[in-house]
Amino acid sequence: MEKIRIAVLCSGGGTNLQAILDAEEAGLLPCGEVVLVIADSSSAYALKRAQRRGVETAVFDKKEYPKVVREEKIFACLKEHEIGLVVLAGFMTVLSEAFVGAFRGRILNIHPALLPSFGGVGMYGLKVHEAVLKAGVKVTGATVHFVTAECDGGPILAQRAVEVHEDDTPESLQKRVMREAEWVIYPETVEKVCERLTQPRHKGV
Ligand code: GAR
Repeated sequence: MEKIRIAVLCSGGGTNLQAILDAEEAGLLPCGEVVLVIADSSSAYALKRAQRRGVETAVFDKKEYPKVVREEKIFACLKEHEIGLVVLAGFMTVLSEAFVGAFRGRILNIHPALLPSFGGVGMYGLKVHEAVLKAGVKVTGATVHFVTAECDGGPILAQRAVEVHEDDTPESLQKRVMREAEWVIYPETVEKVCERLTQPRHKGV
């Protein structure tokens, strides 16, 4: 069986990338392989995580290229590497309708809340956890979804709930959501999608 060639797109720390690489190393990603990591910032620590594992990296820096050019370059790079699944992991560039349309059913994102709550434009990173604490909800979590033109609006593939504690700060809540939800459901879902993409009916899509 040919494995699905995965590209992970990151902007920062890359702990979700790490969780996926660790799953792969542990044999928990039999249907896929991470062959490329792309960052939109040359200082993204995710690049170091990739290099440590010998995964090829590419940087199309926000400071260097305007969005349209950056997106074209990312698209060309994905095609050149014959990528079958694009995994957004803390990637802070909102991709155009044309871009996501070209990877329909082959592009995933993780969001640090239970969508459709606390999602949409401007909701990313710590801002999400700040909004959760402000709303006073007792349960939050993480969501993995297909990416469509609507920000955080694509079909949901997996969710896991996490308790909000009375004394949580945005930072403590972010850590718990990552540890208890994101790092668990993202590798699992990537494997499930890769498995589905290796089925004969998906060939040539
Ligand atoms: C993660 O919490 C991810 O869910 C979030 O950014 C963080 C990236 O961390 N993504 C969003 O908020 C997207 N709307 P990482 O670089 O350590 O994986």
